[in-house]
Amino acid sequence: MNFPEQLKFFQERIEKHLKSDLPDSSQRPARLHEAMNYSLQAGGKRLRPVLVLACHDLFPGENDPIQAALAVEIIHTYSLIHDDLPAMDNSDLRRGVPTCHRKFDESTAILAGDALIPLAFELLAKGYIHQPELAMQLVSLLAEAAGSQKLVGGQMEDLLAEGKCPDEDTLLFVHANKTAAMIKVSLLLGFLLGKRGDDKELFHLVSQAGQSLGLAFQAVDDLLDVTSTTETLGKDAAHDKEAGKMTWVNMLGLSKARDLAGEHTQQALRSIKNIGGDNQFLLELAEYMLRRKN
Ligand code: IPE
Ligand code: IPE
Ligand code: MG
Ligand code: MG
Ligand code: MG
Repeated sequence: MNFPEQLKFFQERIEKHLKSDLPDSSQRPARLHEAMNYSLQAGGKRLRPVLVLACHDLFPGENDPIQAALAVEIIHTYSLIHDDLPAMDNSDLRRGVPTCHRKFDESTAILAGDALIPLAFELLAKGYIHQPELAMQLVSLLAEAAGSQKLVGGQMEDLLAEGKCPDEDTLLFVHANKTAAMIKVSLLLGFLLGKRGDDKELFHLVSQAGQSLGLAFQAVDDLLDVTSTTETLGKDAAHDKEAGKMTWVNMLGLSKARDLAGEHTQQALRSIKNIGGDNQFLLELAEYMLRRKN
């Protein structure tokens, strides 16, 4: 399979399981499950779960990484629902459709996000129950990545930095934690489920690759906010400037921000090459994540 075919294959597998493995909208309370499914089924690029599957395929083993892939997409989706709330970024559009609180209401969106968090850990725990030690490792890594010193901590400092004069230390903290932590853990979960999962040296390289890929990803997200349109993005463009967000674009200007995204991508490519294994897809995915238009 070439790169686009492989990407589509992974994405379709993820879509299928997001439909079949989650509580459906008829479950009581229907409104809550409708809201959870609304945001999950709205599409999205599914890059984090694709990273789980792709990293597993570097050294494929007996384990099926799909439940880990679903878990990271579910945490990511909750983080988007809450990120969009009026108390946070106050966004009206997400994944090409009205945000969860716009479609339903604020309290339903808060609860839908809340309910997605334990669901992710339930899928991990139940999905890998036959290897309790591995399951615990996956659960604790994802909990750490989603926690107060990573994803949520990054979101906190993102909000605290609004309207402030940009500084490198804050920007690095925000990008490393609100975004790179989840990208990194996606690669790590996939890797741990593969045949070489107990190789500490490889774990370190995968971690480095994830960090660079994540920093590149948020740099591109900030660039697209300025250079793309609401229609292409499926979310409100020019939002960061209006909200006074701290970004590389407003600290360095467009051209240097672009260079920075390129440098992080190059660093990610070097780490992926050092990991070895069947890495062609992951190398192409890293470049695709830099070139992406939404
Ligand atoms: C958006 O992530 C949030 C960021 C961390 C920048 P994505 O750009 O991966 O959003 P979806 O999942 O495709 O909607
Ligand atoms: C959000 O960053 C990162 C999350 C943890 C959700 P942004 O606020 O830049 O994401 P978008 O631009 O709304 O997707
Ligand atoms: Mg935000
Ligand atoms: Mg936002
Ligand atoms: Mg953004």
